[in-house]
Amino acid sequence: MLVALLPGDGIGPEIIAQTMRVLDAAGVTGLEFEEAPVGGAAYKQLGHPLPESTLALAKRADAILFGAVGDPDCDSLERHLRPEQAILGLRKHLGLFANLRPAKLFPELADASALRPEVAKAIDLVIVRETNGDVYFGEKGHRTTPEGLRQGYDVMAYNEAEIARIAKVGFETARARRGKLCSVDKANVLETSQLWRDVVIEVSADYQDVELSHMYVDNAAMQLVRNPGQFDVIVTGNLFGDILSDQASMCAGSIGMLPSATLDGSNKGLYEPIHGSAPDIAGQGKANPLATILSAAMMLRYSFDRSAEADRLEAAVAKALANGARSADLGGSMSTQEMGDAVVAALA
Ligand code: NAD
Ligand code: IPM
Ligand code: MN
Repeated sequence: MLVALLPGDGIGPEIIAQTMRVLDAAGVTGLEFEEAPVGGAAYKQLGHPLPESTLALAKRADAILFGAVGDPDCDSLERHLRPEQAILGLRKHLGLFANLRPAKLFPELADASALRPEVAKAIDLVIVRETNGDVYFGEKGHRTTPEGLRQGYDVMAYNEAEIARIAKVGFETARARRGKLCSVDKANVLETSQLWRDVVIEVSADYQDVELSHMYVDNAAMQLVRNPGQFDVIVTGNLFGDILSDQASMCAGSIGMLPSATLDGSNKGLYEPIHGSAPDIAGQGKANPLATILSAAMMLRYSFDRSAEADRLEAAVAKALANGARSADLGGSMSTQEMGDAVVAALA
């Protein structure tokens, strides 16, 4: 089994290094890791954020373990050369359309949440975010209006097949959990969202056992902090899912805690924390590696059917937190390496 290891930029290499230590300490064997450059690092080395060789490795691999991309040095490059194009390109070229972002509060972190502990402790949800379409991949550009004004545009679009396949993932995910699916859209304003809602309702005919509700995204953002416990599974488009998942992370303690899996409908997946390259703390040993370690656990579970090992990693993270492991984002002062140490110790 081959894993493409793509550390990327900023804190990416730091959090991936701790994740590899933990996989090693957990005695995970039988996986071959092959590393390749991606993002700004790849641009600087090979002139492209997603070089052919990296894309070929990702295609060949059974799973991809990804750190983060994004480098302020690259923010004024032409868009197709920017680091972010690497993750967008991987999702698109590999047909990785279903991004699962679970948000659950480790009880030890009730005080780290931005919410009152009694509100925060109820959060246990999965955001099923579509990642192959939406305003991310529509026609985009700059033009001049008839009045001579500069205008930027990005077309938001979803076709019914794209909506139906992510809706099915939403229903299946809900069926395997508490049986509640909330579809989040902006159907009161957007035609894209009206079709989204219509298709989700059509697909629901095959999932009578799942309780379906619909919510506008502005209300969903409010409800997520008012009462996150009301949600089981949220299914939504690329842009709304991006925003709501960062918000959900703070309900669950920190953005440094949320893992993700992006699947193509088979066992293949890309596993990454939901956060970015955090240039503000990169190279300082301050990053929380737990979201990446939990992403590796998702990889073991979803791509390799090794749920016992996944359980062990998750239990070690919980135990490390129970033992008091806290990086700065969790209100503590432990370094990235010390957080890795704490998980390794918890595995023993
Ligand atoms: P970010 O997620 O990188 O950081 C937001 C804030 O959260 C920062 O203050 C950062 O220090 C903190 N943070 C993030 N991860 C942390 C961790 N593991 N431990 C402790 N603190 C953490 O978002 P941003 O600052 O908006 O973006 C920075 C760069 O990352 C940009 O170039 C952006 O495009 C990119 N980005 C990439 C991905 C990805 O690779 N999938 C995701 C999001 C953003
Ligand atoms: C994420 C990131 C990416 C996204 C960026 C870096 C393209 O924010 O993975 O959440 O918007 O999907
Ligand atoms: Mn994001």
